[in-house]
Amino acid sequence: MSTTETGLDGTEESNDADFAAARARHEALAAEITEHRRRYYVDDAPTVSDSQFDDLMHELVDIETAHPELKNAESPTEQVGTFSEAFTPVTHLEKMLSLQDVFSVEEVQTWADRITAEVPGEPYLCEVKIDGLAVDLVYEQGRLVRAATRGDGTTGEDVTANVRTIAAIPRRLTAAEGLDVPELLEVRGEVYFPTADFERLNESQVEAGKAPFANPRNAAAGSLRQKDAAKTAERPLSFIAHGLGALRGFEPKSQSHSYEALAAWGLPTSPYWRVVATVDEVFAYIEEFGSQRHALVHEIDGVVVKIDRLGVQRRLGATSRTPRWAVAFKFPPEEVNTKLLDIKVSIGRTGRATPYAVLEPVRVAGSEVEFATLHNADQVKAKGVKIGDTVVVRKAGDVIPEVVAPVAAARDGSEAEFAMPERCPECDAVLAPAAEGDVDLRCPNARSCPGQLRERLAYLSGRSCFDVDRMGFIACSALVQPLGMDPVIENEGGVFDLTLERILPIRVVVRDPDSGLPKPDPKTGEDKVVTPFARQPDKKTGEILPRKNAEEMLQNLDKAKSQPLWRVVNALSIRHVGPVAAQALAEHFGDLDRIAEAGEEETAAVDGVGPTIAAAIKDWFAVDWHREIVEQWREAGVRMRDDAPDPSEVLPQTLEGLTVVITGGIPGYTREGAAAAVKARGGKTTSSVSKKTGAVVAGDKPGSKYDKAVQLGVPIVQGEDFERFLSEGLSQPETDSVGSEPE
Ligand code: IVH
Repeated sequence: MSTTETGLDGTEESNDADFAAARARHEALAAEITEHRRRYYVDDAPTVSDSQFDDLMHELVDIETAHPELKNAESPTEQVGTFSEAFTPVTHLEKMLSLQDVFSVEEVQTWADRITAEVPGEPYLCEVKIDGLAVDLVYEQGRLVRAATRGDGTTGEDVTANVRTIAAIPRRLTAAEGLDVPELLEVRGEVYFPTADFERLNESQVEAGKAPFANPRNAAAGSLRQKDAAKTAERPLSFIAHGLGALRGFEPKSQSHSYEALAAWGLPTSPYWRVVATVDEVFAYIEEFGSQRHALVHEIDGVVVKIDRLGVQRRLGATSRTPRWAVAFKFPPEEVNTKLLDIKVSIGRTGRATPYAVLEPVRVAGSEVEFATLHNADQVKAKGVKIGDTVVVRKAGDVIPEVVAPVAAARDGSEAEFAMPERCPECDAVLAPAAEGDVDLRCPNARSCPGQLRERLAYLSGRSCFDVDRMGFIACSALVQPLGMDPVIENEGGVFDLTLERILPIRVVVRDPDSGLPKPDPKTGEDKVVTPFARQPDKKTGEILPRKNAEEMLQNLDKAKSQPLWRVVNALSIRHVGPVAAQALAEHFGDLDRIAEAGEEETAAVDGVGPTIAAAIKDWFAVDWHREIVEQWREAGVRMRDDAPDPSEVLPQTLEGLTVVITGGIPGYTREGAAAAVKARGGKTTSSVSKKTGAVVAGDKPGSKYDKAVQLGVPIVQGEDFERFLSEGLSQPETDSVGSEPE
């Protein structure tokens, strides 16, 4: 609807108001983006992350799409960059364009459809999008005569002296067989800072009292754009060519052909480009490099797809800013900027004190990040982060979130240095290194530090120990630090003696499972308190109703007593003893008492153990309260020997010879626990459903295996019938048998 149309309801007025708001927002956004561009291109010190910048740019594009009249030559949507006056300006022989960014495969498809409509069947060239700094190199008669940054696309900054210090960039091209060096070659590419060298650079920046770089791209830009080229020479910069400008004496047919020629003349080209025939192969390339984006020597932030044949590129042409023959698929952001609100210290299972970044919650790579480890005080110093800083936070794939660097350009002077506390934040014991020269400080109060005990309990209930479903981190915190009452257990010795009555009323502060730090309510900023084992007391009667979770946790604890010996050994949290050493010990000794009594030499000689672990075991069993834990567990009925009767010898073999597939969550069981229960009854578990499958146990959200079972007529056991299935086998009338044809 145009702004001049008048409706009965005052549409004209409201349209005018809309337009005025759009214009105001457009103006503010344009100014903001221009300022961010200056910080990025001129200062090499951006204050927002690339994804935040992209969001601003998107908003601007949306406004201009809705109101084309707001578009003008100065709009950031019409510019490709900017340049500093600190360097001599140079005009590129041919304009350097940017790329159209897309963020989904659907958008790549739309781009490809548009091309195909005009020129069907054209091969695509896929390559990685190097996260560096674009430069333009001019070779005359094979000699490097000039190098410039992209600048605004038409005019760049002369960085010839700096570029000459980059070993990967030849000063002279070498003629190859059948390929003379051309009279004129304008080649474009990316100068990058190798990822492996980045951390070291930042450490040395901080040591020298300088601001660290937020990421390798800024490091590349900051290193190249030095007034003194000798400084550039000190940095391990490298280069990869990805395009051409003006040419004389060289007429490549395609982009791929040009890369072969450039490589033959000694210019570095990417080892990753690939020419493909179909858009599906383009998607496969995107997927392949998306999953290994951090495995390359340089950072990449996406994939560039180009039409390979240069004649077709020319035919398709370009807008003022971007070519129509190429598109950049940008990977989802894994780095964002957020505020470092505080640095707190968390205490681990073996007492290690770890500084943790408390962040203004931010979404990164698909999840909300509030805490990120800073490893130790030396790391905090090496990274140069201060409390109150804007920091770059990264979460690469499934990797734990990490603070990469501060955004030094965003400081206002109010930031504070972090000092490692002298005392344990959980129990007030004096922190000390375990041995002289250790970087880590530890809380020495292993016996009663609630932080250490909470972490040991969480470990003990975890997958590599007793594997107690329903005994998660909050439950463990609750047992150790119940609000307004004494701890329910003094240490892990009492874990098998818990009763429903004792745990039901517990209230506890919610903590972050990774850092162990309290996780305040985002709305109020206050500690969040829950009753993890019971529903809230009934408003009228005050009665606390048992929660299924609590009952199940106790049942699971009971079942856990028959876990094999290595899990019991691992659950003791003996320093240096993890699952591998625990398995070696269990296999060799077969009995916890024998592990406790063995001489240090015998233990050290066990394959996979060694002297450090042997000494740690001896030290552990020398402590009275440690031995009491073992006694309490023994009394509770925890398995102490591996030659104790195998459960399969005592349990009726109701599932003998049956192949079972378990899909979805089974109430009261972990995936491993359910499989072990089937095995203990003589059954076998596999992961895929076939005609030979004896039964499919379908728990919560069963997925495609359920559908396959229906299709093949495999008997299906519902999750809630699992216990009955174990005790009675399959031949029960209650068991569903779906879709099987009568003989
Ligand atoms: S082609 C006209 N290929 O990304 C097309 N660019 O966001 C010119 N970049 O200015 C670019 N890797 O500095 C191309 N493999 C690649 C690239 C690449 C990184 C940079 C380049 C460009 C920017 C656009």
